[in-house]
Amino acid sequence: MEILRAEVLGFCFGVRRAIELAEAALCGEKVVNTLGPLVHNPQEISRLNAEGIRAVNSLDELEGETAVIRAHGARLETFAQLRARAVRIVDATCPFVTKSQGIAQTFALQGYTLVIVGHPDHPEVQGILGYIRGGAYVIAHPEDVAGLPDDIRPGVIAQTTVNEQTFLEVIDTIAARYTDFAVQNTVCSATRERQDAARQLATQVDAVYVVGGRHSSNTNRLAEICGSVCPKTFLIETAEEIDPADLIGVDRVGVTAGASTPDWLIAQVTERLRKIEPVRTANP
Ligand code: F3S
Repeated sequence: MEILRAEVLGFCFGVRRAIELAEAALCGEKVVNTLGPLVHNPQEISRLNAEGIRAVNSLDELEGETAVIRAHGARLETFAQLRARAVRIVDATCPFVTKSQGIAQTFALQGYTLVIVGHPDHPEVQGILGYIRGGAYVIAHPEDVAGLPDDIRPGVIAQTTVNEQTFLEVIDTIAARYTDFAVQNTVCSATRERQDAARQLATQVDAVYVVGGRHSSNTNRLAEICGSVCPKTFLIETAEEIDPADLIGVDRVGVTAGASTPDWLIAQVTERLRKIEPVRTANP
């Protein structure tokens, strides 16, 4: 059985960098806290926990001397609160998110009202909102533009992981309603690249394994994309979930993984697939 890997899969640059920074911060310390989980993958979170990298939900839960800001970033006031507590800060904000925070500030200084295309509860969006004073709007769909006030000059950016097509449709709707507005496309290419590579992979194989957390939205999106092309698509968290019976009659199997899936889990899945003897038909 031939095994094909998607051309782009697994950890994005920002998540990989955040984990490397957290592990480097651990040198000489027993525990390093991250404000929220570093990555949406239960197996990687367990591995990090065992190393001493633990997620907390509030500053009151902090143990040790160091706090890591994850790739999603954090509000300016969170940095101030950490400094007031004399906590060493390791800022692992993804540089693409830092760029969005800067654009939000620039728009606000120029008198634009910030409009973020994204999800209001997402930590990245919450963090960006903490970089500006005054009102801002978070919308998810082109239809939501109708709910914006008439008397604003919208300054529009995207949550880095939103569907780019939706963002562009929102911009078209804004352009049809407002004459004075500003736009910066801050969609991160990592999501798009993984989705394109998964779609391409699914056209070349008889079955696809999408490796990643069941609660990871980007992993679920990859599974949807692959499933629309290749009906034998399986979302798995670990290699143990592979059932050889699913591979009867399969000559080529594909492997892809979400942006929050570590290399070691992908390697375990590939290794397990290599060991499975090919069976051509169910009823010889
Ligand atoms: Fe950064 Fe894009 Fe990943 S914004 S955290 S590289 S999905």
